[in-house]
Amino acid sequence: MAGLRVRPAGPLRGEITVPGDKSITHRALLLGALADGTTEIAGALDGEDCRATARAVAALGVSVDAAPGAPVWRVGGRGLGGLAEPPDVLDCGNSGTSMRLLAGVLAGQPFLAILTGDASLRRRPMRRVVEPLIQMGAQCWGRQGGAYPPLAIRGGSLRGIDITLPVASAQVKSALLLAGLWAGGPVCVTEPALSRDHTERMLGAFGVRLDRQGTTVRLAPGQALRAAPVRVPGDISSAAFFVVAALVVPGSDLVIRGVGLNPTRTGLLDALREMGGDIAVAPREEGGGEPMGDLRVRASRLRGTRIAGAMIPRLIDEIPALTLAAACAEGTTRIADAAELRVKEVDRIAALAGELGRLGARVDEEPDGLTIHGLGAGGAAGLTGAVCRSRGDHRMAMVLAVAGLVARGETVVHETECIETSFPGFTERLAHLVPGAGAAAP
Ligand code: S3P
Repeated sequence: MAGLRVRPAGPLRGEITVPGDKSITHRALLLGALADGTTEIAGALDGEDCRATARAVAALGVSVDAAPGAPVWRVGGRGLGGLAEPPDVLDCGNSGTSMRLLAGVLAGQPFLAILTGDASLRRRPMRRVVEPLIQMGAQCWGRQGGAYPPLAIRGGSLRGIDITLPVASAQVKSALLLAGLWAGGPVCVTEPALSRDHTERMLGAFGVRLDRQGTTVRLAPGQALRAAPVRVPGDISSAAFFVVAALVVPGSDLVIRGVGLNPTRTGLLDALREMGGDIAVAPREEGGGEPMGDLRVRASRLRGTRIAGAMIPRLIDEIPALTLAAACAEGTTRIADAAELRVKEVDRIAALAGELGRLGARVDEEPDGLTIHGLGAGGAAGLTGAVCRSRGDHRMAMVLAVAGLVARGETVVHETECIETSFPGFTERLAHLVPGAGAAAP
């Protein structure tokens, strides 16, 4: 199994870009498949998760031209009536977004499809999407009464739905909106707090009208999609690791170009600024309804804060990076209302407390999040290199590698191959920015 050895080796300086946004790439592939006409996707994320969606879309009879390294991917849309029964099980790998969004699409199809994934995905909760799709009229089965994958779905004629979700979830919201494209009545989804709205924005760009009021979105029935070009900005969830690295490694001054700045995704920047982080944002022109810009991050003295409530969905995937920042800050940080972390690729509450704990970070597990007792002085005074492992979670692997930049001595991170799911080229960027910091470990 692959691994990484990391040691402190000086500041992060210069400029980087990060690969395309994972959430937006999934949606571009799916909406492109359902549209009339060919969708060109520029800057797609060529990572394992998005490849899983691309393969599933192809298995549904859609032509996907996505050669490795190609700057533009092309999806030959089949329209809302053009998908075909897949000849085999659809394997979503590690990708919850692939499985949940595809479940929504398949609920509208008059054929049988089966979705499965790797061991981690087969442990993730699916009732949240299966139950409302059944209410809309689809037939869905999963292990343990519909709770876990594999899922079998036979769609058909669907009804509209008016639903209040118990947790903010872009994946569930998106699945229901996608199913709503085949429903006879409106689909109306209310969330406790606004989750990422890429599906809504991209549906708009493809000519579908949606009404939004606060945290409620409503899709009227009978609307077709028209292919539109998609320009995918850099993934702020990937940039997060370098943002935090530049804040905590003394002397750093790093520019990250072309990062997506959708306000439903920028909670990390707000939280880090609140903690005293020096982060300047230079907006750039929008691409297809998604704002983007350049970030300049300079090493800063951070102080603890409290993060809870509506902020959580705005930074849910960045909590690993944020936890490291908090570990290097002065004072205590409490992350609350984040029990969703327990059902991500791994239980991230347990994984962060356990693995960052091996490096000497003082991170307490709470039922709904974490309490982090900051070590101060950039963390370098307190973190010590150790052997740790990602537990198969890409974001755990990356945050542990970044922690190695501020931990005394050598840090060895085991099980780093999962980084490919979301951030191909992470290790190369680290090696380029901080020569001598990282090397492959057995
Ligand atoms: C995603 C939504 C979030 C996020 C995940 C990607 C998406 O999950 O954690 O990494 O692309 O819609 P939930 O919708 O389950 O909160």
